[in-house]
Amino acid sequence: MRLESPQINLIIKACLKASRSLIRDFGEIENLQVSKKGPGDFVTSADKRTEKILIEELLKAHPEFGIITEERGIINESNTRNKWIIDPIDGTMNFMNGIPQFAISVGYEEENELKCGVIFNPIMNEMFCAEKGNGAYLNNSRIRVSNKKKLKDSLIVTGGPKAASKIKEKIFSEYINVSKNVSNVRKFGSAALDLAYVACGRFDGYWQRELSYWDIAAGVIILKEAGGFVEFFEDDNSNPLKRNILATNSNIHEELKELLK
Ligand code: IPD
Ligand code: CA
Ligand code: CA
Repeated sequence: MRLESPQINLIIKACLKASRSLIRDFGEIENLQVSKKGPGDFVTSADKRTEKILIEELLKAHPEFGIITEERGIINESNTRNKWIIDPIDGTMNFMNGIPQFAISVGYEEENELKCGVIFNPIMNEMFCAEKGNGAYLNNSRIRVSNKKKLKDSLIVTGGPKAASKIKEKIFSEYINVSKNVSNVRKFGSAALDLAYVACGRFDGYWQRELSYWDIAAGVIILKEAGGFVEFFEDDNSNPLKRNILATNSNIHEELKELLK
């Protein structure tokens, strides 16, 4: 792999270390402690343990860097120059149900620009990585988005609505509308892997509302480096960590965007 920044190497090392306990936890899900953060929103002891290892590893190397994490919140908030963005398990619902479609997702930003990211599904042993200007990889192979040209031939992935969503009807009608105009739609339950799968051409496009930045930070740089196109729409200026995303192989972008208006 030709990704060599100290940051990507650090993320890879931290992910590999955290994955060892995550794999153990996945083998014993019946023993996990689960608590509820909100309607349909759960956190397990594995989320917390994985996040703790990632934070420890990253802070050991750079005690002063900022960190945005899903479970613990913001660390070193005053450092706006260097930031890690961590989702320790993206796809917790799958994880809790014994479905191996989940991943550790870690991105890195400098001056608010994404520089690199890693999405690692330790059960499938698939590590997606990218670094700005140096391409995207799945394990040791370079990846690229699909070459699909027409929306009607495309396989699209999406997610949501969340159980507590106030715009469920809107999301359902969007789902129906897109479904009528594409080859098929999937809901796989991990935003990070959804983006990674567009990046390697398994899906042709992805859209979703009501995401958090940690769900997608690493995926955004991976997809861009794989030749894809990413757009955020209907931003909530009062909460920059909330995002609606449209991410495609580029070719079908405008056609899919039209359906979301
Ligand atoms: C969730 C997953 C899921 C998406 C949800 C996210 P979590 O993240 O990415 O695919 O539909 O909106 O919250 O809770 O498993 O980290
Ligand atoms: Ca997530
Ligand atoms: Ca999570």
